[in-house]
Amino acid sequence: MNSWKGKKILVTGISSAIGAVIARALLEKGCEVFGTYRTEKNLHLHFPEIPDGLIPISWAAHESPTFLDSSPVFEGWVHCIGAIQPQPIKYLNPKGNQDLFAVNYFSATELASKLLSLKKMQSSGSIVFLSSVSSHYPYRGGATYAASKAALETFSKALALECSHLPIRVNSVVCGLIRSTMLDRSVAHLDQNQEEKLLAKYPLGIGEPKDVANACIFLLSNEARWITGSQLLLDGGLMLNS
Ligand SMILES: NC(=O)c1ccc[n+]([C@@H]2O[C@H](COP(=O)([O-])OP(=O)(O)OC[C@H]3O[C@@H](n4cnc5c(N)ncnc54)[C@H](OP(=O)(O)O)[C@@H]3O)[C@@H](O)[C@H]2O)c1
Repeated sequence: MNSWKGKKILVTGISSAIGAVIARALLEKGCEVFGTYRTEKNLHLHFPEIPDGLIPISWAAHESPTFLDSSPVFEGWVHCIGAIQPQPIKYLNPKGNQDLFAVNYFSATELASKLLSLKKMQSSGSIVFLSSVSSHYPYRGGATYAASKAALETFSKALALECSHLPIRVNSVVCGLIRSTMLDRSVAHLDQNQEEKLLAKYPLGIGEPKDVANACIFLLSNEARWITGSQLLLDGGLMLNS
């Protein structure tokens, strides 16, 4: 996308710490942002006032994405929805396991399928999924979260292949720890010593939502026109220590 003005971008999960910053960055560029949220309180937490150009859409991942029936055709889609629920494998709760997959994986697959079947993604459009380094380096208690993100990355590559003739590009941003409520939940079960050890693994410190927004904007842009099916590692150097 050379000029951003008036581009219609779908951001699923604008009520997330990261999704809200992505939506604001796109609005600043002059895009029209169609942003989904599930919890109204969280939408208002990030957007006390709804800025011009932002169209909030109420949608929970277990519902069919019927909002697409009346939506415009999008030039881009960034999928930020995600949940984390520590579950040691020994105590895996089947319902919790399925719910986590529904949020982290099936929300993306169903939306992608419907976007394509309704022809709601513009030719030369770009799709970005937010994944996690845990898909490559799982952590104790994070089996389902890590597996759901690994599934999302594999789906992203298959989608890139199936959309290449349109052409629509599809990429994943594989994030390390980003300052957010999800980060607070990820470290909640650690004691102070464990938390300090974890954070010390990041040579550039932990990330900010704006770092993720910058990466997503690059992948949405025409500067990334030859990049598809990739996993952009965004981890502040974490892997250098693995
Ligand atoms: N923060 C990190 O350290 C980190 C690291 C790696 C990857 N990521 C990924 O980055 C993305 C954003 O993370 P974040 O930290 O900004 O998350 P967050 O603040 O915890 O927000 C989670 C988002 O997912 C939405 N959501 C959760 N369950 C849903 C459901 N059943 N139906 C519809 N929406 C649902 C929430 O909607 P409501 O608030 O409206 O309920 C919210 O928009 C996620 O995919 C996450 O896995 C984050």
